[in-house]
Amino acid sequence: MEKFYITTPLYYVNSKLHIGHTYTTVFSDVLNRFHKMRGVDTFFLTGSDEHGQKIFEAATAAGKSPQALADENVQYFKELWKLLNVDYDKFIRTTDAEHENRVGMILQKLYDKGYIYSGKYEAYQCVPCESFWNEKQLEEGKCPSCGGEVNWVDEENYFFSMSKFLPVLQKKLAEDPGLIKPRLRHKEIMGKIKDSMEDKSVSRAHFDWGIKLPFDPEQVCYVWFDAILNYITAIGYPENMEEFNRFWPSDLHVIGKDILWFHTLFWYSILEALDLPLPTVYAHGFWLMKGGKMSKRSGMVIDPFELADKYGIDSLRYFLVSGLPEGLDTEFSEERLVEKFNNELVNIVSNTLHRTLTMLEKYLDGKLLDEIEYGEMEEALKAKFTQYHEEYESAFKQMRLPKAIGAVIDYLREVNAYINDAAPFRTGKNDLKRTSAILYTVLESLRLTAIMLYPVIPDTADKILNKLKYKWDFTSDGHLEWGQLKTDELLEKGEPIFMRLKEE
Ligand code: MSP
Repeated sequence: MEKFYITTPLYYVNSKLHIGHTYTTVFSDVLNRFHKMRGVDTFFLTGSDEHGQKIFEAATAAGKSPQALADENVQYFKELWKLLNVDYDKFIRTTDAEHENRVGMILQKLYDKGYIYSGKYEAYQCVPCESFWNEKQLEEGKCPSCGGEVNWVDEENYFFSMSKFLPVLQKKLAEDPGLIKPRLRHKEIMGKIKDSMEDKSVSRAHFDWGIKLPFDPEQVCYVWFDAILNYITAIGYPENMEEFNRFWPSDLHVIGKDILWFHTLFWYSILEALDLPLPTVYAHGFWLMKGGKMSKRSGMVIDPFELADKYGIDSLRYFLVSGLPEGLDTEFSEERLVEKFNNELVNIVSNTLHRTLTMLEKYLDGKLLDEIEYGEMEEALKAKFTQYHEEYESAFKQMRLPKAIGAVIDYLREVNAYINDAAPFRTGKNDLKRTSAILYTVLESLRLTAIMLYPVIPDTADKILNKLKYKWDFTSDGHLEWGQLKTDELLEKGEPIFMRLKEE
């Protein structure tokens, strides 16, 4: 059976999440649902990053223990994902005993192989990013990831011999550019390899909120080393290799562009050291606030709970995944959210359905005739469906969600043009056979579009399919074949599935 293993980053538990984090998770959920509805054996992992100096400092400032702060925010993360219909299979916490034990085993394994050794550590540290850099990596003396201040640290540490693996990686990445997506991110990383050719410290001695090194309990594991291992510990490595081999290599690590270096050069070298095959990483762009970066530190954030409350869950999911073009940064705007919702989900999806069911009630008392005779116009529309469906599938497989969603909406635009040309409002009761064939063609098109939109707006898809009395378990393949809508049910128009939104 085909499988699909997808992950999100583990979010730091020092504070609440904003619309940027929400985007990464919803985007991953949409991709996961797309594969799941094709009958694929999917596994969707998300979770929380709980160790390290940044969390320790945030907890101390709030007068709490790091564990208490983590517990509180994990609860909040889970509530948010539940509200937004994020259907993950596992939520991993880096403080889970299972993860901690497995990280300990991996550290020991690398130490035994001679890939972890002790030495003196000197680097520029960026506490908010939990990152360490050498002189060359700094950009105008600042952290290359967030542009913030860095400070100098030196202590006795353990090092991971990353430099040993980078030449091999360089070759592999040149041969297989598809490992890092989209293309511009692959290019970015290829340009960074030469400045990364040095070993990386993987332990800390000056604080103890972390996983103790099995070979030196005076030191704790560097938080990025601990957290990045979650993608393999969550599925059993190194204890349960049967489960692990079922899903590894993962199919996709979805991340934001800010943590690309860690998820490629750093992560890939660890995998090389463990003799594990490399997975694909997809780095998306950023949602910006007017004129700047959205960040917890600057206080410029948009609260996902607030937005969901104002505009609804599916409108938020829809806007997030259709509104950020591949690889690019875009400004978040409620005005655009409302406009997109009204133009596409209300004017096109909801109105087409309501209008058609109204005609069905009016001319055929809500019941289609059993026999459907297709004419030329219907055959042409079916051919268009095949074409848009292919476009949708191919865009989805390339993670081009705005394009995939665009293909569905464009198809519905064609359906509306077909309604105008075929004119069931003219054939009406005079030619019931013809009217029924036209309405069937439209309702079948709506069934297909509801299924295509299901990964993005699952509740709405469910509502549409309920109105069409179409039963489906959302996890089996074959529902995107034309002609599966039954004609033996009484369909009622009821209330429209969406009303127009106003910006609040
Ligand atoms: N804990 C690390 C990740 C460890 S993974 C082993 C971390 N956490 S984070 O809480 O800071 O979340 C970072 C991720 O949130 C980014 O990589 C990105 O996916 C997402 N985003 C944060 N701000 C964002 C925007 N403004 N826009 C889009 N996504 C953004 O880094």
